[in-house]
Amino acid sequence: MSDEEGALVEPTAVGFHALNLAQVDVGDDVLVVGGGIIGLVSAMFAKKSGASKVVVSEANIERGEKAVELGVADEWIDAKDEKVMNEYTNHFDKVIECCGNTPAVNSALKLVKPGGTVVLVGVSMVPLNFASIDAVMKELTLIGAIAYTKEEFAKCIDMIANKEIDVLKFVSKTISLEEVQSAYEELTSGKSESIKILVDPNK
Ligand SMILES: NC(=O)c1ccc[n+]([C@@H]2O[C@H](COP(=O)([O-])OP(=O)(O)OC[C@H]3O[C@@H](n4cnc5c(N)ncnc54)[C@H](O)[C@@H]3O)[C@@H](O)[C@H]2O)c1
Repeated sequence: MSDEEGALVEPTAVGFHALNLAQVDVGDDVLVVGGGIIGLVSAMFAKKSGASKVVVSEANIERGEKAVELGVADEWIDAKDEKVMNEYTNHFDKVIECCGNTPAVNSALKLVKPGGTVVLVGVSMVPLNFASIDAVMKELTLIGAIAYTKEEFAKCIDMIANKEIDVLKFVSKTISLEEVQSAYEELTSGKSESIKILVDPNK
């Protein structure tokens, strides 16, 4: 595989692990909260697992649209649009949370259906304030996901090398070391349509 594909193995394995924990069944409706690289690879694997509908919720319009454009989501919903979010209350069989903030976790708990599963991938270094009542009343299964197993990592190498999955489509651009600062500023603006920016020190 190319160096660029090699750089994508790690985040791909994070999404693959999350999907394995979620145990998506054929015909499931799956919500992925957050359309960054982790959310998009998770959405890609949800479709590959036979989900009938994969929806990505996003707070950044550019990234929401990108999820559909890249073919990993059937639809995207605006996480800031309360009306649309309410329409999906109790809808999804499986939810993969890929943001790690309070509103995102609460939306996962609200939009999953009773008896459903929420996989928590997003990381927060501070305690979150979430509505545990949703988990109690709906008897949800909450699963934490960290990294991947050695076998899952190896499987991702194979899938990429065999062209079973295309991860290069998530690379928005390749930059030089000098451009790293501005790339961070772009990515943390909350408005960027870039997903994965690779750094080539030889550029
Ligand atoms: N558990 C693990 O092993 C593991 C591994 C890698 C990354 N992570 C974590 O996964 C998360 C995603 O990683 P990433 O690189 O894709 O991050 P990212 O910041 O690129 O993507 C997160 C996306 O969530 C969106 N967002 C913010 N609030 C939202 C909300 N309320 N509803 C919907 N979308 C919302 C943002 O606009 C952003 O596009 C991060 O928290 C990261 O630390 C976990």
